[in-house]
Amino acid sequence: MESPEGYWASRAALEWQVEMGADEAMLDAPADRYAASAEEAKPQAAIAPAQPARPPIPEPAPAVDAPAMARAAAARAATLDELREAVSGFDLCELKRGAKNTVFSDGNAAARVMIVGEAPGREEDIEGRPFVGRAGQLLDRMFDAIGLSRTSPDAQSAVYITNVSPWRPPSNRTPDAAEIGMLLPFVQRHIELIDPEVVVMVGNTPCQALLGQTGITRLRGNWTQVLGKPALPMFHPAYLLRNPAAKREAWADLLALKARLKS
Ligand code: URA
Repeated sequence: MESPEGYWASRAALEWQVEMGADEAMLDAPADRYAASAEEAKPQAAIAPAQPARPPIPEPAPAVDAPAMARAAAARAATLDELREAVSGFDLCELKRGAKNTVFSDGNAAARVMIVGEAPGREEDIEGRPFVGRAGQLLDRMFDAIGLSRTSPDAQSAVYITNVSPWRPPSNRTPDAAEIGMLLPFVQRHIELIDPEVVVMVGNTPCQALLGQTGITRLRGNWTQVLGKPALPMFHPAYLLRNPAAKREAWADLLALKARLKS
């Protein structure tokens, strides 16, 4: 039989355990305290430190289809001013980065003849007008010789001038095929809006853009069609400055143009 002291000591110990939250005398299954203490004794390093929550990985930006954007921008332009704005606001062509100005066009928008060149050079980039350097001065003299001028207010004797690229390429290099393809919708829309009687392509780049062909020595002087209009490939005036002997063929082409406009 337990002594009264023993009883009170056991009862005090039990009450203390109840106060500490022990409300069950035993568990359903036996607890292996040896295994539990081995687990507690494991070194802290073995427990993976809590990782900070990772920020969600952003979705990759959708690839921009620059030629499709150019086609859509060109198609939306209903007037020449809208096309000028669309070209100036088009930021997806690398050539624009190095250029000071967007060189859109010059001349009389009602002209019968539309001349398409390659791209602005240094002077054109500075001035913001096509064909104002040495090659441009020769171009003016060539067309003056058959009675056509960019400054003529009379549509009959006027020309309108633009380029495949409205931006000067770095070091005056030729625009590459991807750049030409991207800018083509703007040139085509430009021709549609001006609606000239005849398109003159000077040099290889406009032939590559509008005919899908190069080889200006073979192409020049041969009438063809661009967007359903009579079109004439000619030597570029910069080529004529370097090869004055080719001016003879250029003169023959100018006379063929003059004859076409009379008919
Ligand atoms: N060459 C071109 O093709 N275009 C210009 O505007 C000037 C030089």
